[in-house]
Amino acid sequence: MNKQIALAFTGASGAPYSKRLLEVLFEQNITVHLMISAAARIVFADELGWKLPAAANKANKILVEQFQCDPELLKVYGEQQWSSPLASGSHQIETMIICPCTMGTLSAVACGSSDNLINRAADVMIKENRKLIIVPRETPFSAIHLENMLKLSRLGVCILPPSPGFYFQPTQLSEVVDFVVAKILDQAGIEHDLIPRWGE
Ligand SMILES: Cc1cc2nc3c(=O)[nH]c(=O)nc-3n(C[C@H](O)[C@H](O)[C@H](O)COP(=O)(O)O)c2cc1C
Repeated sequence: MNKQIALAFTGASGAPYSKRLLEVLFEQNITVHLMISAAARIVFADELGWKLPAAANKANKILVEQFQCDPELLKVYGEQQWSSPLASGSHQIETMIICPCTMGTLSAVACGSSDNLINRAADVMIKENRKLIIVPRETPFSAIHLENMLKLSRLGVCILPPSPGFYFQPTQLSEVVDFVVAKILDQAGIEHDLIPRWGE
């Protein structure tokens, strides 16, 4: 079976990271189990011009067309779609990425609310000791945000803020986006050559 990833888009700024991440995952023939929050649909419309409908099957069709990917590589689930494999620890997906992650979703994951599929899927990853990568976006962070991140970090969650380095002297925005996506892929154990590695 090809590699499988659970991916959640929430309503924080940073949609270009999500778009690039999807591109690279499809290029690598990785199946993406995708969840999109209602707020993400609003932010992604602003930042990327994407008009994603609430209905998961319609969003799925639009994204397959946009990325020209094999339809088998994308499975979009609704926010309350509890029939999704992601709702249970019995699935075999080893890695989940929330990119970008709002402070609202961060808080819900930190307290184990499981009140929508994104929060439940993250809760499952934590309880099953699997890899959960959170890309939190807000600035500045309040003590509430930092405490939630610390709590999750102590549980083994990877807190990966979209903080690009500039030591490789990027000249285009796409290189800055790739820097962050490369860090996410490194944590997810997915090989890539998006940016040169230091010292090579
Ligand atoms: C244009 C726009 C940008 C936003 N940017 C952020 C952000 O960067 N970080 C954040 O935590 N919330 C941000 N929000 C607020 C969240 O979308 C809001 O708290 C929402 O309830 C989060 O829901 P979700 O976690 O289910 O996606 C933004 C909202 C809008 C409309």
